[in-house]
Amino acid sequence: MSSVRTGTHSFDPDSDAVPRQPGSDQRWSTWTEVIPTQRGPLPHPEWLITASGAFDTELGVVKTGKEAEVHLIERAVPGTAGCLLAAKRYLGSDHSDFHRSSVYTEGRSVRDSREARAMKRKSSFGRRVAAGQWALTEFDALVQAWKAGMAVPYPVQVNGTEILMEYIGQDRVAAPRLVQSKRRGAELAGAYDQVVRILESFAHMGYVHGDLSPYNLLDDGGRIVVIDLPQVIDVAANPLSLDFLHRDVVNVTTWFNRRGLDVDPEALFADLIAQMW
Ligand SMILES: Nc1ncnc2c1ncn2[C@@H]1O[C@H](COP(=O)(O)OP(=O)(O)OP(=O)(O)O)[C@@H](O)[C@H]1O
Ligand SMILES: [Mg+2]
Repeated sequence: MSSVRTGTHSFDPDSDAVPRQPGSDQRWSTWTEVIPTQRGPLPHPEWLITASGAFDTELGVVKTGKEAEVHLIERAVPGTAGCLLAAKRYLGSDHSDFHRSSVYTEGRSVRDSREARAMKRKSSFGRRVAAGQWALTEFDALVQAWKAGMAVPYPVQVNGTEILMEYIGQDRVAAPRLVQSKRRGAELAGAYDQVVRILESFAHMGYVHGDLSPYNLLDDGGRIVVIDLPQVIDVAANPLSLDFLHRDVVNVTTWFNRRGLDVDPEALFADLIAQMW
């Protein structure tokens, strides 16, 4: 996160009108509700607010989709500096016809058979279970990637169907996606190098992103950050993983080639496979 900001619901501590309960666009910070394994890796970044007296304030929708919505929230102890977080909420609603089909989940299992049956039936309980699974899987992938030193948002916590993560952007403006970037020449080549590093890091971990494209790469003032990891694929467990890797490589190289950078998808693909074993 680039900077620490002042809480929006600031108040005068000497005033009688001190707000002690969250307002309608607020809740108590959910940090204390989650157990340590649902929290991001240690050390927690110093910008992260972990005080139990903090409020989470809804600041608006960043993006809505069929499967998830991303909201901007501020976590702050009223009257003190807070931190901005992206809340990715998996919907699990009737309308959420999850495009990330079972080919991605090969090799994963649901231990609780009641949950497994509900997911198969697609009951509302089952859909909620599935949404929670996607949230957990994305959170775990973010944790692994963060621990490997990758450029991902810091995963703050997962709670049911909601992931809270570092908000990537300047002030309250989200970083643009790479697809919107006007980069040319050396700046474009610099972005490509960063994308190759991201692909290499996944390869070293034995993972494939599975939905990599200039839509899931943010350009944060020069630093390329990869997001949207729920469908991450374990190469050892999924026989289709190399097909997904090839698609990821083609997606990104096609975009760079169209922008005028001469890059070779097959050479990159071969290189990444060589780095896996
Ligand atoms: N940590 C973040 N910081 C800033 N913006 C974010 C963050 N995470 C997501 N966004 C914004 O929200 C959008 C949707 O996020 P994401 O890609 O994770 O969800 P999605 O439901 O898979 O969306 P889509 O189907 O459009 O890919 C991103 O393109 C980006 O603009
Ligand atoms: Mg996305």
